[in-house]
Amino acid sequence: MNSDNDLQIAGDILEVQHLLQPRREHPVTVAEFVGLARAIAADRAQWEHLVEYDATSRWYHRLRTGPGYEVWLLSWVPGQGSGLHDHGRSSGVLTVLEGTLAERTERGTRALSAGAQRVFAPGYVHEVVNDALEPAVSLHVYYPGLTEMPMHTTQSCAAARPVTA
Ligand SMILES: [Fe+2]
Repeated sequence: MNSDNDLQIAGDILEVQHLLQPRREHPVTVAEFVGLARAIAADRAQWEHLVEYDATSRWYHRLRTGPGYEVWLLSWVPGQGSGLHDHGRSSGVLTVLEGTLAERTERGTRALSAGAQRVFAPGYVHEVVNDALEPAVSLHVYYPGLTEMPMHTTQSCAAARPVTA
């Protein structure tokens, strides 16, 4: 079974009114988790002053917690990467706040520039790398909170094959 089905939604999902339930204090639906990430991304005062760049190890900071979820802020200096991994039982929303990150999966490599978001289900395997010349910052929402990040050692190739869709 292919777990990387690469679902694409045309247009802005947050414009679909029936998905916008009365505002809740904490997100529950995928759309609300995406919306939370977008709201934080747009409010630089929440995160900009917290960002640090560490050339020796990837820097991360837990920005927020809520019922069953965590929001992490990560920085990536050029050359830093996550290694190939999944997220255990967690689903997630990855949002690029600054710079450009490359996401590598078995299907290819996708460039994620500021504002790009990726939503993934449990078991999704990817590698995120800053292969650009400028530092990058990203926001990661995990539901439930990330308790493990199993590393994967092999992947048949994706580094050089761009995802165009
Ligand atoms: Fe990840």
